[in-house]
Amino acid sequence: MTEIRYWNGEGCIGKLISDVVVRSEIGTYYALDLGGTNFRVLRVQLGGRRSSILSQDVERRPIPRHLMTSTSEDLFDFIASTLKQFVEKEESGSEPSSVRARELGLTFSFPVKQLSIRSGILIKWTKGFAIEDMVGEEVVGLLEAALIRRGLYMRVAVLVNDTAGTLALGHYDDADTVAAVIIGTGTNACYLERADAIIKCQGLLTTSGCMVVNMEWGNFWSSHLPRTSYDIDLDLESPNPNDQGFEKLISGMYLGDIVRRVILRMSQDSDIFGPVSSRLSIPFILQTPLLAAMHEDDSPELKEVDKILKETLEISEVSLKVRKLVVRICDVVTRRAARLAAAGIVGILKKIGRDGSGGITGGRSRSDVKMRRTVVAIEGGLYTSYTMFREYLHEALNEILGEDVAQHVILKVTEDGSGIGGALLAAAYSSGGVDNVQ
Ligand code: GLC
Repeated sequence: MTEIRYWNGEGCIGKLISDVVVRSEIGTYYALDLGGTNFRVLRVQLGGRRSSILSQDVERRPIPRHLMTSTSEDLFDFIASTLKQFVEKEESGSEPSSVRARELGLTFSFPVKQLSIRSGILIKWTKGFAIEDMVGEEVVGLLEAALIRRGLYMRVAVLVNDTAGTLALGHYDDADTVAAVIIGTGTNACYLERADAIIKCQGLLTTSGCMVVNMEWGNFWSSHLPRTSYDIDLDLESPNPNDQGFEKLISGMYLGDIVRRVILRMSQDSDIFGPVSSRLSIPFILQTPLLAAMHEDDSPELKEVDKILKETLEISEVSLKVRKLVVRICDVVTRRAARLAAAGIVGILKKIGRDGSGGITGGRSRSDVKMRRTVVAIEGGLYTSYTMFREYLHEALNEILGEDVAQHVILKVTEDGSGIGGALLAAAYSSGGVDNVQ
């Protein structure tokens, strides 16, 4: 992986999460989850001993497209206004004392050079965002400035990636959670690593223990990846060429566009689709939810495929043969993506010794070895809403690990985990909380 980053100081999520539980946080914590097509504002109430989540409120908002390429001030002003409205709505009627010290977790799902638990510099944009003035800037400072402009007092207690937020909630719910994977607009994973196994940490840490490694696996690249001319063109025409190679083969932002490119080429090279529709040349016109709808069309006449080809792509020739061909293209593209994501997950399990391979040594067969229950928290629309993708991913895990091992690996969906986890971490790092870790 090209970028492995870690929290310096004592930033160990394993420890943090137990702190949340042991220290019995009581109170209301907020989170802002920014990183895909939507952003979310959340409010989580923790209460009582062995703190449990008493309630959670989530509001989702699409990010207006123009803000993804505008200025940092425009983006953060919009986010701060939405947060302000949310806070005012949620707090109307509550006692003033309960709103005095608001703490916020910022889940920011882009590559960041983490400076401390509550600060970090944006390295680069991914997933179609391209706000130039923000690259190289400290993210929390920009948000706090916007909050001040909007007259909303809030302390940003933590800055985390969505994978780390998802791992936090996953681990909070189930202590066997060792990794978190996002497969949505973008894709990434993080996992718990022994601190002494991280070269960058050697000499830095005073304590032993574990740390979260945000892999930024979307940027993984290898000449062994099955890249076709469609992928190469997509990459070259993207706002971030030569970047995020793995993500461009797997995630929801890109799959629909790969299928569009295949159909366009077929249409140009043959008359199977009739005259070439000009719509086929519009980048991202075929969004991944439409690809999923075509792939999962189980009507005998493939009515959904017919509708999408005619209405979205304005293709005139849509015989049953053509519709079946399109379903086949969707299948190939989706299956490849799911299998690559599965390979990534197995890579993590292998790295932390949870792939069952320990059993092959010493003359014992894999099935003789007691494999520990291993939970991977998972989030993202491609996995949660696209059944065929999910099935192909599970199929590949079974195939690579073998069923005897795969049965101990549980992929657990943590709904809104990236945001709720951010709020939990805000609680752990609240100003009145943990012995202020840098
Ligand atoms: C992109 C981002 C990464 C994020 C992932 C999933 O790959 O670079 O930080 O975790 O998308 O949202």
